[in-house]
Amino acid sequence: MIRPNTNYGNLKDSYLFYNIGQKVEAYRKANPEKKIYRMGIGDVSLPLCSAVIQGLHQGVEDQAKRETFHGYMPECGAPFLREAIADHYRQRGVEISPEEIFISGGASDELGDILDLFDRQSAALVPEPAYPAYVDANVMAGRKVYPVATLAENSFLPEPDESLSADLIYLCSPNNPTGAVFDKKRLQKWVDYANQKGAIILFDAAYEAFIEEPDLPRSIFELEGARTCAIEICSLSKTAGFTGTRLGYTVIAKELVRQEFSLNAMWVRNRTTKTNGVSYIIQRGGAAVFTQEGQRQIHENIAVYKQNARVLMQALDQIGIWYCGGKNAPYLWLKCPDNMGSWEFFDLLLNEIQVVGTPGAGFGECGEGYFRFSTFGSPEDTQEAARRLVELLKPKKS
Ligand code: MLT
Repeated sequence: MIRPNTNYGNLKDSYLFYNIGQKVEAYRKANPEKKIYRMGIGDVSLPLCSAVIQGLHQGVEDQAKRETFHGYMPECGAPFLREAIADHYRQRGVEISPEEIFISGGASDELGDILDLFDRQSAALVPEPAYPAYVDANVMAGRKVYPVATLAENSFLPEPDESLSADLIYLCSPNNPTGAVFDKKRLQKWVDYANQKGAIILFDAAYEAFIEEPDLPRSIFELEGARTCAIEICSLSKTAGFTGTRLGYTVIAKELVRQEFSLNAMWVRNRTTKTNGVSYIIQRGGAAVFTQEGQRQIHENIAVYKQNARVLMQALDQIGIWYCGGKNAPYLWLKCPDNMGSWEFFDLLLNEIQVVGTPGAGFGECGEGYFRFSTFGSPEDTQEAARRLVELLKPKKS
């Protein structure tokens, strides 16, 4: 009889966002008359910008004519999109060649798939609170995971520690869920550490477009030595509203070599075997993001989400709840009031004011007692949710 992958037995019952979705659905069924304000999963509410829509239409038109029709796409990505992304890096002073850029169906797929490159005996270091797929994908592969708690005292930014030994290091900046962002000095410490240990950093840059401060690194490749120790995983989901359209890209420099294996060449081998590339139409839409007009339009949308963040921050200030994030990241990470547990606070908000957030405990044990709000909702819903929060939690006059 075939043996299933019994590592699945080591996973939590269900995936965090699936679990929340089920709870919210049960509440909706029991209370069909109540409107729910969703600020849980980081799913965008604004439609794709017009430059992207034009690109997608162009892709459809091209597929309608014999002269411009595309069948299978190059597995690692269409040259026009790889070049557009390389140019985008160049404009920010980072030299990446198109062959070092791999087009993907999105960062979450890629974060799991990329693990094919590493031996199952290798161990993963995950600074927590963390996006739960980092842990789950490694558990599924039977890999050891070392969670390392980050703390408010250190602004939720992990520091390398000589006593830790891991082969894969997950770093996410701006961070999901805390909104913490590495500055160059702190990130350089990790790059130096990884190079010294021969480890590899999986750098999740899904939220780089939300960075406001010009001195903060938006790519790990802005740092000396990153080409020999880092893989950068990027996404158009939050940057350009592609959560339902699916597109991302991954950067693996040619210098990333371990035991004479080039990781770039291995990923070419992997992609050419396991995929037939991303849809031509979607890649046309994606290329529009990297035009001047596309960049202007996506930043207009990002400005709407940033205004949502300000609305929520004002509400939290008003009720005296501690929080961080929201400035260079689309998430607010807050301390649950009255020492409540994070699922307890989740239930309170859902049942009393129909506001959905994400319990911090879902991002690792050290997230217990914290809570996350996404700022990707509609401005109207965000304002109403903020009003309800204040109404529910404002200090009562005695
Ligand atoms: C989140 O809410 O943490 C993300 O939106 C989930 C995802 O990107 O898959």
